Amino acid sequence: MKILVTGGAGFIGSHIVRWLRKAGGEVVAADNLRTGKRTNLPDDVPLYEVDIRDRTGLTDLFAAERPQAVVHQAALANVRESMEDPITYAEVNVIGTLHLLELVKEYNCSKFIFASTGGAVYGEGQTSQRSTAEVDAGGRPAPGDPTLPFTEESRPQPKDNYGANKLSCEHYIELYNQNYAIPYVILRYANVYGPSQDVKGEAGVVAIFSGAMLADQATFITGDGGQQRDFVYVEDVARANILALNSDLTGTYNVGTGLPTDINTLYRLLADLTEYGREPGHLPLPSGEVRATWLDCSKAGKELGWEAEVDLREGLRRTVEWARTAAVTA
Ligand SMILES: NC(=O)c1ccc[n+]([C@@H]2O[C@H](COP(=O)([O-])OP(=O)(O)OC[C@H]3O[C@@H](n4cnc5c(N)ncnc54)[C@H](O)[C@@H]3O)[C@@H](O)[C@H]2O)c1
Repeated sequence: MKILVTGGAGFIGSHIVRWLRKAGGEVVAADNLRTGKRTNLPDDVPLYEVDIRDRTGLTDLFAAERPQAVVHQAALANVRESMEDPITYAEVNVIGTLHLLELVKEYNCSKFIFASTGGAVYGEGQTSQRSTAEVDAGGRPAPGDPTLPFTEESRPQPKDNYGANKLSCEHYIELYNQNYAIPYVILRYANVYGPSQDVKGEAGVVAIFSGAMLADQATFITGDGGQQRDFVYVEDVARANILALNSDLTGTYNVGTGLPTDINTLYRLLADLTEYGREPGHLPLPSGEVRATWLDCSKAGKELGWEAEVDLREGLRRTVEWARTAAVTA
């Protein structure tokens, strides 16, 4: 089966490409290299430098390659940017996805896998719906918040344009399934980290901390560092995509560890791994930042046979090793 990976030169997309190659699949990548890099891809994987807003470019790609499945990772994924430039975000994330869905329909592809986001689609848990001032005054999600962890049944409540883009794509994908019987799997990723992550990415905090710590530069935590996130290792996320591709299932699945980690803990783990001795500075919390989010992934366990296998300490160790080598070869 020939598979098209959009955003294939990006952080997660390039790991998916490698997994597909390992499994013996034929892969082509599409990427406009906005944040992706050619060097992220194996030399012999064809890369179409195409923007997913460019219908003609995508049509030419489909005509030349006739992919049988699409793994759609290409997106603009910076929450702050999405608030500053909602139009470009909608053009890339929503219209770009619609171009692909139209071509998937035309070419009768057997599967559409979509990279969604748990963090931005679910928004806040009940007890973390507090003002920034309250949070700065020491507010914490109450133990036993009934809305956390988020399941696939939790009510989506995006707080930013990026989350609204992804939720809108999910609705279109479900409609294309209902109207044209296109099988799909939507994967709602938690905060993904690992080798080759761009510091500007959605979960750039691991890349930012480890880069600064290895260079012995100053580090900064936003707010009090009590914000909780679900950090999932990129190889686990790539494996979830392969399982989704190989399954007969259609549906939506959370992809995370099911465990919350606060930023202060993450900071300490990374400081330990990089032997960084300095204390962090603190910056004001960006307005609207979600206080706590983590994902219940039992549905993926039961139906896809997927669960995260790399624990946080091991994933961070591998990421720091990669960052050390990347810094030497840069
Ligand atoms: N990293 C995370 O923690 C995380 C969490 C949830 C969801 N996601 C989703 O996973 C996917 C991959 O994210 P990532 O972290 O690898 O980010 P990334 O920026 O490394 O990957 C996105 C890729 O899409 C490409 N791209 C951007 N705009 C494009 C366009 N108009 N046309 C063609 N290509 C374009 C970029 O060049 C890049 O290679 C995205 O859809 C993102 O929304 C990521």
